[in-house]
Amino acid sequence: MLEHGAAPPATQQPEPDPPVGGLGARLMRRKPVERLVAEGGQGEGGSLRRSMGMWQLTMISIGATLGTGIFVVLGEAVPDAGPAVIVSFVIAGLTALFSALSYAELAGTIPVSGSSYSYAYATMGELIAWVCGWCLILEYGVSVAAVAVGWGEYLNELLDGTLGVTIPDALAAPPGDGGIFNLPALLVVLLAMAFLLGGAKESARANTVMVAVKIAALILFCAVAFTGIRAGNYTPFMPLGMAGVSAAGATLFFSYIGFDAASTAGEEAKNPQRDLPRAIMLSLIIVTALYCLVAAVAVGALPWKKFSGSEAALASIMKDVTGQDAWAVLLAAGAVVAIASVVLTVLYGQTRILFAMSRDGLVPKVFSTVHARTGVPRANTVIVSLFCGVLAAAIPLGQLADATSIGTLFAFALVNIAVIVLRRTRPDMPRTFRVPLSPLFPVIGFALCLWMMGSLQLVTWVVFGCWMAVGLVLYFAYGMRRSRLATAEK
Ligand code: ALA
Repeated sequence: MLEHGAAPPATQQPEPDPPVGGLGARLMRRKPVERLVAEGGQGEGGSLRRSMGMWQLTMISIGATLGTGIFVVLGEAVPDAGPAVIVSFVIAGLTALFSALSYAELAGTIPVSGSSYSYAYATMGELIAWVCGWCLILEYGVSVAAVAVGWGEYLNELLDGTLGVTIPDALAAPPGDGGIFNLPALLVVLLAMAFLLGGAKESARANTVMVAVKIAALILFCAVAFTGIRAGNYTPFMPLGMAGVSAAGATLFFSYIGFDAASTAGEEAKNPQRDLPRAIMLSLIIVTALYCLVAAVAVGALPWKKFSGSEAALASIMKDVTGQDAWAVLLAAGAVVAIASVVLTVLYGQTRILFAMSRDGLVPKVFSTVHARTGVPRANTVIVSLFCGVLAAAIPLGQLADATSIGTLFAFALVNIAVIVLRRTRPDMPRTFRVPLSPLFPVIGFALCLWMMGSLQLVTWVVFGCWMAVGLVLYFAYGMRRSRLATAEK
């Protein structure tokens, strides 16, 4: 429940110093919440600037959430679920909701830039925090790449509709998807990088405009496609049974990823304790309502079997319903803006998470070096953008989206546990938002995350296992030794 007014930074009853000792103690060392909060904003050579209010934070979360999932991945999920894709959206939304409640509580209590990485550091110790941060790279870094690929599909649709040209496959798709290099995906990442280098405030402003455009595009879609709804398209409602619906739910979970993005702006928010929980919950409510509406209209307007293999699904529906290309072009333009804003905000989130990890010594210092004039972690932004851009250019969307989902679900599962742990270890801390019925709701959130992870394909698990193995090697070779808590112990 929201409690009115911002709580003061937590200063009461500081935790004891982290344990000193053997390997187990090192892996379990926790960073005191007071220290996490006190270090907020500070980087090497400068500090981040507090410039965002609740509205902009909500826009960051909506910006990061609403994009490829609804404009592209919906088209991939309908062949699994049929018209019951609406139920798949509800299932995925519920999974997100329970975790969002947990995020809201922790973001209000520990309002820093590291999001769930920092929450895990305060509650479950350094190794789990590292694992969480490593998963967040899948959630943010890899999803930027996945989203950028979806952007390319709509850009092609737009170019085709307006200029009658399409980017040749060789330059519009990665190897394995019939191309050599996905140039548009790289371009959109570089564009977002340019905005981010200009400053967080400026990027947040640009994002707000883009969010308005994407919501307008989806409402326009609903209004136009509504006229094409045929009742017969809703039957059979669940042609492939519940298994299909839950598989589609796991795929569509991707479309909810990003509601937590506001929690990466904790050190650039004006009143983070009060505004972060509100921004997280508000964005999830708005996004869920839009998804269910768009899905219901889309499957009503186009027989579910026709979704198979359709790229830029919503634009195709507009074309089918109206018989005119102009509407589809308008929607494609909206999608191009929409997806660009996901790239911008998710890229922003990734840089801030690495900023927090770097400040703790777990990744190199270059990620927490702040440019004195703009207040932007410059080198961090450039490195992350180049990494995501190359990934986007070289790997197909489907594989990236599933890898993103599994990493995110794992991080969300940890956040649910963190709420329970912090309630026990620090019941005294002021909380501006409390998960109702804790620990029941966090336990449900945790279980739903595991259940969704179980619906993902074996190959995704293998990719996840390899990713984790690489992460652990890096931690033991670098992070564990360089951790600032380790240095404090010496
Ligand atoms: N939820 C984000 C999207 O759908 C990642 O584009």
